Amino acid sequence: TAGPDPSDLDRIANAALARVESGMLLGLGTGRASEAFIRRLGERVRRGLQIKGVATSERSEALARRENIPTVSLEEVERLHVAVDGADEVTPDLGLIKGLGGALLRERVVAYEAAQFIILVTPEKLVEKLGSRVPIPIEVVPFAVTTATRHLTALGGKPAIRKNADGYPFQTDNHNWILDTAFGPMDAPAAVDARIRSIPGVVDTGLFLDMATLVLVADPGAVRELTR
Ligand code: A5P
Repeated sequence: TAGPDPSDLDRIANAALARVESGMLLGLGTGRASEAFIRRLGERVRRGLQIKGVATSERSEALARRENIPTVSLEEVERLHVAVDGADEVTPDLGLIKGLGGALLRERVVAYEAAQFIILVTPEKLVEKLGSRVPIPIEVVPFAVTTATRHLTALGGKPAIRKNADGYPFQTDNHNWILDTAFGPMDAPAAVDARIRSIPGVVDTGLFLDMATLVLVADPGAVRELTR
């Protein structure tokens, strides 16, 4: 299927950039929308904007370096001012599913340190209930994949090991695996999240509840702002 229109991504990337000032420490997300933001940010840095970024994936780290954006690790900084990232689903109360790009764990670690967490999406990702369009990506240590699969199934989910094009399991930057687990539209995502997290070997889930502070939606020719 065709990806998002680059001009849509540029529009929301620019709207996020309008919230960035010299001196800020930024979280750099992962995925197409985040990469559009990192490229725009690179243009501004080359024109003198002074910021530093913490990347949420090896891929975004490499892109930031190509763009000459100074990057730092979490050991070198305390709070971040703003983290900018994409999402796979967004509800009206700014609940998210993230992780179709596989970077959910580092994305959460970085977002948790940020005073503002800005999400960039195209409008087809807006849903009434989480789980409507995509499964929940669940990061699991490889040792526990079989047992976690059994327990997720018992919770009513349909777990599938994420695979690469070569058929081997996808490995996260943290050397874990992902069980993409369909639960369907959820009435109580926080309760589902708590049950998933209680399964031994689960490291993180793609449910990001009560974290986003602003969602920028690429409406046709415009940017819509969703806040809580
Ligand atoms: C990466 O792990 C994900 O959380 C991405 O942020 C999410 O999949 C959105 O990616 P796109 O901007 O490519 O749709």
